Amino acid sequence: MEQYAIKGGNPLVGEVEIGGAKNAALAILAASIMTDETVLIENVPDVRDTNVMMQAMESIGAIIERLDRHTVRVSGKAIRDIAIEDDFIKKIRASYYLLGALLGKHNKARVALPGGCNIGLRPIDQHIKGFRALGADVRIEHGLIIAEAEQLRGGHIYMDVVTVGATIDVMLAASMADGQTIIENAAKEPHVVDVANFLNSMGASIKGAGTDVIRIKGVSKLHGTEYAIIPDQIEAGTFMFAAAVTKGDVTVKNVIPKHLESISAKLMEIGCEVEESDDAVRVVASKPLTHTHVKTLPYPGFPTDMQPQITVALGLSRGTSIVTESIFENRFKYVDELTRMGASIKVEGNTAIIDGVSKYTGAGISAPDLRAGAALVMAGLAAEGTTVIDDIKFIERGYEDFHLKLQGLGAVIDKVNSERELQKFRLKTG
Ligand code: EPZ
Repeated sequence: MEQYAIKGGNPLVGEVEIGGAKNAALAILAASIMTDETVLIENVPDVRDTNVMMQAMESIGAIIERLDRHTVRVSGKAIRDIAIEDDFIKKIRASYYLLGALLGKHNKARVALPGGCNIGLRPIDQHIKGFRALGADVRIEHGLIIAEAEQLRGGHIYMDVVTVGATIDVMLAASMADGQTIIENAAKEPHVVDVANFLNSMGASIKGAGTDVIRIKGVSKLHGTEYAIIPDQIEAGTFMFAAAVTKGDVTVKNVIPKHLESISAKLMEIGCEVEESDDAVRVVASKPLTHTHVKTLPYPGFPTDMQPQITVALGLSRGTSIVTESIFENRFKYVDELTRMGASIKVEGNTAIIDGVSKYTGAGISAPDLRAGAALVMAGLAAEGTTVIDDIKFIERGYEDFHLKLQGLGAVIDKVNSERELQKFRLKTG
């Protein structure tokens, strides 16, 4: 079983290149099969979730060529099946995007109910409500969601909760429906906008993405395109907070600073300097960190996908901080692991009350999910001594070359695959 071995204590210093946004890539890959023409997608992150998505697309007949590590050419012309039942697709939450894409293009889809990170209940009622508003019959049978329509037609949908997944999913299907669709209370995340821009570059007519009302005029056909995915806001935010917890000086490059505003604001509040330029943000942590309060919210609020990372930083800040998780109810599972490293955090419902400590100490811990896993790596980098993290497969779902990028910033971290390799790491790092 692969693990990360980390010797903490080195400030991270230097520059790191941020890759394409995983959560935009997953939807854009699915959307690329909505045309019979060829689509070229650049800046696709090479992570487990995007690779599983491409395998699923191939399993129904899509032809995918990797032109280089981050550029793929997709042809959906030969799609012969609208059913994705394989077990592996259940591992990624974003399998639901294939439902919207296939329903839009072929008027029917059968996709295994999605899984994904275990961060709480993850209902899909808003996806179903949206597809029904477009005239589809939707039912769940034998673990599959089955959606079909004679012909999808535009509809008016008010989302009962702000949901990225359902907003994008309905946008996919509606872009090829007959007539106009209006989505109200839509999610405004940068990747919602990116997917709309991608679909528009294929000939769709989507207006208002990035606001809470999206208007879509259905078209009968989409065409090929070439498109580069936006940078990953959460990967960037993770390195920014890694700079903070290690008292480092890190410039994250190839980012859109506007997408990082809530993250930068919190870093400044806790005592870091943040300098923005056109496509980079530098975080310098030269002073002791101070406490703050934060509540996760839909964009432009503070992202739930950054909640474990800020908690790790606040665990080392002076004073008492409160973190409230308002998106997913089960996203504090990593706190037990952090406690093993010396953190003083009490969780009550969806709130964590954090009494800052002066240091973490290395321990053997497990990554419970993707973002929490990355946050525990950050804790290990800041800790005194050696930390060994199990279940790094979760981290690899969404971070490309995580340990290599950290090594590039001076971190002492290795991926080890056996007790012998771990011993070697311990000997090497003293
Ligand atoms: C996406 O999940 C991301 N995943 C998550 O990233 C991210 O945490 C989340 O959006 C919020 O930003 C992908 O893009 C693949 P939601 P998603 O629909 O689409 C409720 C990561 O670490 N809801 O915006 O599943 C839901 O329970 C992952 O990269 C309904 O009630 O999230 C939650 O409380 C983890 N009914 C809220 O809405 C629905 O039909 C937001 O969920 C759908 C959602």
